Amino acid sequence: MSGAIPVITIDGPSGTGKGTISQKLADVLSWHLLDSGALYRIVAVGVEKKKIKSINIKELCEFATSMDVSFSGEFDGSITLDGVEISGQVRLEETADAASKVAAIPELRQVLLQRQRDFRRAPGLIADGRDMGTVVFPDAGLKIFLTASPEERAQRRYKQLINKGVSVNLRALLQDIASRDERDANRTVSPLRPAQDAVVIDTTTLTIEQVLDTVLEKVRERFPETKA
Ligand code: DC
Repeated sequence: MSGAIPVITIDGPSGTGKGTISQKLADVLSWHLLDSGALYRIVAVGVEKKKIKSINIKELCEFATSMDVSFSGEFDGSITLDGVEISGQVRLEETADAASKVAAIPELRQVLLQRQRDFRRAPGLIADGRDMGTVVFPDAGLKIFLTASPEERAQRRYKQLINKGVSVNLRALLQDIASRDERDANRTVSPLRPAQDAVVIDTTTLTIEQVLDTVLEKVRERFPETKA
């Protein structure tokens, strides 16, 4: 009866604050959280570790079907693959890039579809990604699509990385973001785009608190029974 369990989808490109908003929303509502990008990142890490060639689609899909992953349930929390802690590697920029490449493989997306749907558990789910509202949870009760200018997204990512002590170049970051956007938006399967019934919020000039307030207003409208 998963159809009865409410879902809110938060889609959009990286650097729009999706992860932070999803985590805050999950905390406010006490709902589960799916960071679907982490699944693609884990596959990318596994490909590297197990020396799978991503062109060997059969082997890639076998790995994605059987991989034993665990999440602490928090955005930026612990992630293990076959019992080994890999969260540091999962969050690297090069992993994001590799994830965006494997994410364009239709057979892999198909394998990950059910894994993602299995996160739908009572009392509800916040699903963060690119195709949560269009493909994975098309029946979600509320679909949010966050956008922001590429320059603003690169700035935000830059600050995040600098705060973590990672040295980065803003121009290179902007280029990476642009090429990942291009790949994610133009792939043939599940391209990055808002669902027809999504609420689109441009976050370029908004603070996280302002975005959260806007989203919470929508949550109260759609789910008046929640404690939002
Ligand atoms: O959200 P993220 O930056 O962790 O995602 C990493 C890559 O994974 C992103 O560039 C595209 C891909 N991805 C996807 O194709 N579909 C999703 N639902 C989530 C992520």
